[in-house]
Amino acid sequence: MKIISNVEKLREEIKNLKISKNGTVGLVPTMGALHKGHLSLVEKCRKENDIVIVSVFVNPTQFGPNEDYDKYPRTLDADAKLCEDAGVDILFAPSPKDIYDEYYFKNKETTLICPPYDVVNKLCGKSRPGHFDGVCTIVGKLFNITKCDRAYFGKKDAQQLFIIKKMVRDLNFDIEITGCPIVREEDGLALSSRNTYLDNNARKNALNISHALYKVKGLCKKGVKEADTLIDTALAYMENLEVEYAEIVSVDTFEKIDIIEQSTENKALMLVAAKVDSNGSKVRLIDNIEL
Ligand code: PAJ
Repeated sequence: MKIISNVEKLREEIKNLKISKNGTVGLVPTMGALHKGHLSLVEKCRKENDIVIVSVFVNPTQFGPNEDYDKYPRTLDADAKLCEDAGVDILFAPSPKDIYDEYYFKNKETTLICPPYDVVNKLCGKSRPGHFDGVCTIVGKLFNITKCDRAYFGKKDAQQLFIIKKMVRDLNFDIEITGCPIVREEDGLALSSRNTYLDNNARKNALNISHALYKVKGLCKKGVKEADTLIDTALAYMENLEVEYAEIVSVDTFEKIDIIEQSTENKALMLVAAKVDSNGSKVRLIDNIEL
């Protein structure tokens, strides 16, 4: 496995690999602190492509001014070991200066990919203005740099996946996007790099998120189909958490659903975001479940 930080070197290495392996390029974009959730994407990518690239880049343009950019876990050595073991060909681990130019560091502005307002300013985007513009911008840049044929994203970040698929359609990127299932701990907690922030008590409280989602899915299966009732149930189960949102949307449109009918069954997603107190600060977690 080659570890590359420079964009031009990466382009050259991909060119060489394409000549020697003559096949498809698969990309798994990440911010590192890799866990089994990330590795499930890498595994799928490895199965479906001849050349596998994983990027590890904590992208400054998707973090708000009061968010955890500085303290986000950076564990490149461990990430490299995991990628090597997973059969990755290239680990692309640039620094911000490899990705953004001087103008950005001087003016804190760059050319952005901005999806429509209504798509990015709900759910996670409501409390994180500019977040999805930053995500689309870095993902678009990675698509252009790697010229990948396929890219893999987790359903854990369901709104992100929806927005990236829309970006790919809207901007005619010739790239197949694959969404991969959420990987959870045995007790239900969705794996996340931010779980490393959780102390024991916070870990216990964080579990209420997935438990609430499972409860709602059970109720829905039993015939409770009104979104308001299901949302109230989720809220009741999310104890010791500061709930930011709990909503039910269509997977196809990300528009709110009021009643889960047969036509929307298996196409309804309950999404939640909540903050949990840990070591004197608040950790923001997200999760979702198909109903
Ligand atoms: P990051 O949070 O590192 O996640 C990288 C990818 O791993 C995303 O597609 C995410 O949905 C997926 N992932 C994370 N936890 C998962 C889990 N428990 N199960 C399945 N997949 C999981 O998402 C980002 O980075 C960034 O926004 C990025 C797309 C890299 C752009 O900077």
